[in-house]
Amino acid sequence: MSEPIIDQGAPSPSGPLGYGDRVKLTGPKGRLNTITLVPGGEFHSHRGVIPHADLVGIPDASVVVNSSGEEYLALRPLLSDFVMSMPRGAAIVYPKDAAQILSLADVFPGARVVEAGVGSGALSLHLLRAIGPDGELFSFERREEFADIARGNAAAFSGRVPENWTVTVGDLQEVLPATCEAGSVDRVVLDMLAPWECVDVAAEALRPGGVLICYVATVTQLSRTAEQLQRSGLFTHPQSSETMVRGWHVEGLAVRPDHRMVAHTGFLITARRLAPGTVLPSLKRRASKSEFSDEDLASWLPDLGPDGGAATGGAGWAPEDVGERSKSDKILRKKVREAQRFAEERGADTAAPDDVAEPGSGD
Ligand SMILES: C[S@@+](CC[C@H](N)C(=O)[O-])C[C@H]1O[C@@H](n2cnc3c(N)ncnc32)[C@H](O)[C@@H]1O
Repeated sequence: MSEPIIDQGAPSPSGPLGYGDRVKLTGPKGRLNTITLVPGGEFHSHRGVIPHADLVGIPDASVVVNSSGEEYLALRPLLSDFVMSMPRGAAIVYPKDAAQILSLADVFPGARVVEAGVGSGALSLHLLRAIGPDGELFSFERREEFADIARGNAAAFSGRVPENWTVTVGDLQEVLPATCEAGSVDRVVLDMLAPWECVDVAAEALRPGGVLICYVATVTQLSRTAEQLQRSGLFTHPQSSETMVRGWHVEGLAVRPDHRMVAHTGFLITARRLAPGTVLPSLKRRASKSEFSDEDLASWLPDLGPDGGAATGGAGWAPEDVGERSKSDKILRKKVREAQRFAEERGADTAAPDDVAEPGSGD
């Protein structure tokens, strides 16, 4: 049998397995190993060997036999498998929430999307897939180390850093206006501690009718964001939700919900950008001002009070305030090395298409 043509390019999402593809091998005892097919590579277990060449050219979801005659099921990992196993610097958006984000924000092929922060790049991978090669993703991240981890993960997933993705290091409020022209963006996706601080720049970047979606971990962040959207007068149709997915065990007569589930990840709030200068007609059913006072609101959201929260300890929000652990520089540097190794083991090119985008280079 002639050796298949060796193409070490981008891994393919479907079709027969080829070099560069990641493959999950499930062995006789149900143990899982994920490998990347490389020319001359071999998968070794303590009982035998499978040359990578034996996997190249066979259909996805086939059974292969090792040198001791043991059978292994070979299956390409899905995007959701990949994001759950890749190195993480910050908490990732779980696949269940990423799916909702794509749907609620109506992310479409060819869309120009802004995302902040990048964190480990899990949501970036979902957004890149949804916008396709004709779309553009402009991602922003305050911390260089997170940007590096995300780039490593994207390269490991796609074989290289996608050309339609720019990662700009900086605070979204400062760098977005210099990167994307006003009114040029279809969707803005915020996954950060204080999205309310970015409502104005997001509004400036969005086209009329464009969607802003924010993912937040706590109810206090959710209501702070909702209040800022309403106060800005720049958005309409705010909608909030959370997504609970309960897996089921379905086997013979044992058909029941799983005993364990991920009970909480975060909340989503979406809103549509009004055309500049548009003032919403007042709705009769809207809560009247007399139903709650600024003082009532400030007791729930102190930083909305007249003193900006000074009386209750200041308006600044820190990761610890919402129960997040902040990562030390040392841990992050370790994660960057892990992500780069992860990409290199897969023969991926981690260089950005034009290296790191500087503010102002995008549009
Ligand atoms: C939870 S992580 C994002 C995770 C990411 N969505 C994922 O799925 O992997 C939040 C990130 O937002 C970044 N961040 C917070 N505020 C920011 C801002 N104003 N501008 C840019 N990045 C910001 C943080 O540094 C952090 O890396």
